[in-house]
Amino acid sequence: MSEEPKRGEDCPAIRVMMMPRDTNAHGTIFGGVILSYLDQAGAIEARRHCGDRVVTVAMNSVEFKQPVFVGDVLSFYTETVQIGRTSVRIRVSAQAERFAHPRGAVDVTAAEIVYVAVDAERRPMRIGRTSQS
Ligand SMILES: CC(C)(COP(=O)(O)OP(=O)(O)OC[C@H]1O[C@@H](n2cnc3c(N)ncnc32)[C@H](O)[C@@H]1OP(=O)(O)O)[C@@H](O)C(=O)NCCC(=O)NCCS
Repeated sequence: MSEEPKRGEDCPAIRVMMMPRDTNAHGTIFGGVILSYLDQAGAIEARRHCGDRVVTVAMNSVEFKQPVFVGDVLSFYTETVQIGRTSVRIRVSAQAERFAHPRGAVDVTAAEIVYVAVDAERRPMRIGRTSQS
């Protein structure tokens, strides 16, 4: 166990319990399920800068550091790394509270994801503008 789960100001974008349907052939949690939550968590952070219309353009790095198991509760934390003209770069990290040890938290996954603000025609749009302006 590395540290206590983060609370208060370091509130996670998403918390979710892993279910049997989320497993791979080895019985651990399928990486694609975790990728989906990483993308959602990053998008929640990106929307703070870009507004409602935001798309994922790149998942530049994803690291699965530790396996995740059924019953683990994953918390996804986000941090804005860079704001560009039409894109934002978001770091997302996931911690697992193990089913068997709910008071501890383990760093399991980290990613850096780039999102682009788009207009109604799905063209890149300068951050800070509205789709009408
Ligand atoms: C996102 C999209 C609109 C960008 O279109 P584009 O023609 O590449 O636009 P641009 O070249 O003007 O780039 C827009 C921004 O994205 C960034 N960008 C483009 N490709 C990138 C990549 N592979 N990695 C990181 N940033 C990238 C550019 O640097 C630019 O950022 P900036 O304006 O802050 O400098 C287009 O690629 C798209 O629609 N992709 C599909 C998105 C999608 O559907 N995602 C859901 C998952 S499938």
